Amino acid sequence: MAANPLAIQSYALLDDAECEDRIVAAKEKLGDAVVILGHHYQREEVFRHADRTGDSLKLSRQAAASGARYIVFCGVHFMAEVADILSGPEQVAILPDLAAGCSMADMAELAKVERAWRELTEVLGDADATVTPVTYINSAADLKAFCGRHGGIVCTSSNAARVLEWAFARRDKVLFFPDQHLGRNTGWAMGIPLEAMAVWDYDQPYGGLTPEQIRRARILLWKGYCSVHQMFRPEHIDAFKARYPEAKVVSHPECSFEVCRKSDAVGSTESIIRTVAESPPGTRWLVGTELNLVNRLHERHKHEGKSVHFMAPTVCMCSTMFRIDPQHLAWTLENLVEGRVVNRIRVPEDVAAQAREALDRMLEVSP
Ligand code: 13P
Ligand code: SF4
Repeated sequence: MAANPLAIQSYALLDDAECEDRIVAAKEKLGDAVVILGHHYQREEVFRHADRTGDSLKLSRQAAASGARYIVFCGVHFMAEVADILSGPEQVAILPDLAAGCSMADMAELAKVERAWRELTEVLGDADATVTPVTYINSAADLKAFCGRHGGIVCTSSNAARVLEWAFARRDKVLFFPDQHLGRNTGWAMGIPLEAMAVWDYDQPYGGLTPEQIRRARILLWKGYCSVHQMFRPEHIDAFKARYPEAKVVSHPECSFEVCRKSDAVGSTESIIRTVAESPPGTRWLVGTELNLVNRLHERHKHEGKSVHFMAPTVCMCSTMFRIDPQHLAWTLENLVEGRVVNRIRVPEDVAAQAREALDRMLEVSP
């Protein structure tokens, strides 16, 4: 039997140059029917085909505003879910490789968050009256839905402070998941002392905390983290500053508290890009975020005499973002040209409706 030319196996052996031509040709044929959204961590061979690029917040807005029939998301699974939730019913969100997940998002699952909610209710009385659940956008749709039905909200790395203000205006405490670092860094920048933030170990009963610790905490920080951003260490900053005392440091808030405290600026991928772009010519930067973005920044600004360095001494990339390769993108687009949708991301409508509530609250408070 002849091999199906539109099966993914037929693309696996194509080289990047051939994929490049085929992606361009398929995009041309699809015209306005397709929009390709690309996160800043995407590899260059994919990123250059994106019609719109951005951080998680900007891309959510692009997805909501796009009129295209097909939204091809070059990013990770939770981003494509958000695109599906915020786009119209006739639109189709697609993730070119379904294995492009997010290890941090996987650290929080609904059953464990619901258990935490029951335990908080035991200790504090009705958790719905005392705690606002806040989920980082890096989470599955059912957790956004949990926040929607419990009066909570979603945040991204670019609006976390505004979201926490919104949350505290409603209840005294916040359960923040899944990234402890974003929660801690944001809380601390808002003036909440470290002693008022307790880590909730989701594998322990009551998060491994005593009733007194739970009562005292203003933010309960889910014990999740990003495996990429945890690689950046304060020692890397010290060593770099010893070599280049005039250098500046900018980090993503998924980095540890110690790294963020030693950084001159902390912000989302979009804000890191802006910070480097707006710095005077000749500035030297040490950047604590994913390698593909750091390399792109270096290339973009080297002609201005700026030099952009990666914070870790070892290569650490987001391996799941890297799953989206030119082969999968060519496969996705050529199938669309033939009227076939592959890798559709579809959030069940009951989950999507509740998740949309939490996302809409976020979009309302975002600058
Ligand atoms: P941004 O929203 O800053 O782009 O971050 C997304 C992400 O996954 C960072 O690891
Ligand atoms: Fe998830 Fe970290 Fe990759 Fe971002 S960099 S998508 S948080 S694993």
